[in-house]
Amino acid sequence: MASSSPALCFLISIALLLAFTSASDPTQLQDFCVAVPDSANPVFVNGKFCKNPATVVADDFVFHGLNVPGNTTNKEGSAVTPVFVSQLPGLNTLGVAMARIDFAPHGLNPPHVHPRASEALLVLEGNLYVGFVTSNPDNKLFAKTLCPGDVFVFPQGLIHFQLNVGSTNAVAIATLGSQNPGVITVANAVFGSQPPINPDVLVKAFQVDKSVISYLQAQF
Ligand SMILES: *[C@@H]1O[C@H](CO)[C@@H](O)[C@H](O)[C@H]1NC(C)=O
Repeated sequence: MASSSPALCFLISIALLLAFTSASDPTQLQDFCVAVPDSANPVFVNGKFCKNPATVVADDFVFHGLNVPGNTTNKEGSAVTPVFVSQLPGLNTLGVAMARIDFAPHGLNPPHVHPRASEALLVLEGNLYVGFVTSNPDNKLFAKTLCPGDVFVFPQGLIHFQLNVGSTNAVAIATLGSQNPGVITVANAVFGSQPPINPDVLVKAFQVDKSVISYLQAQF
């Protein structure tokens, strides 16, 4: 019996890990909780004010327009059309969201982080070079070139990106494990904050001259 207890401990540890691991928002305590922007007549609060269930209609669970390409005429050559709780109130408390991402030829969805969600990305059209980088100290890159029909997963909170490596437009659909995944675009946050981060911070952090920092800050 004594020899089996380490194995038992291991199994119990795994079971506890599985029990306490959650890859999405907390599970809802009711069927739904359609978000309403005003607090005039809310029923209860769980993330956002909830619409009175008696007045909820089918349209509260519908978003129209994800068939429409985003406008990729910008510096990055990409456009994200989010379907988060702000666009689809019925998502409130349900722990999922979507987005459509359009890419012009050679367009980039720049390195960014979703602080509250993992993401599964389905490529519908084009070829995307995608990847994510693990946390310190390894900072290991996992990257792959994807074709239509391929799905790639980006773990929650890790820096990731998608680059259209084809000469045609590309389209992808993202699914995310939060009604409000959050987006932190690395370059914008670091070099385009308002007010700007003191350049002394960035000079040391990036190990470059102040002129390089000024140049980078000027881009945002
Ligand atoms: C796309 O965005 C560009 C740059 O903001 C703008 O000039 C252009 O009118 C937009 N195109 C459409 C179809 O909205």
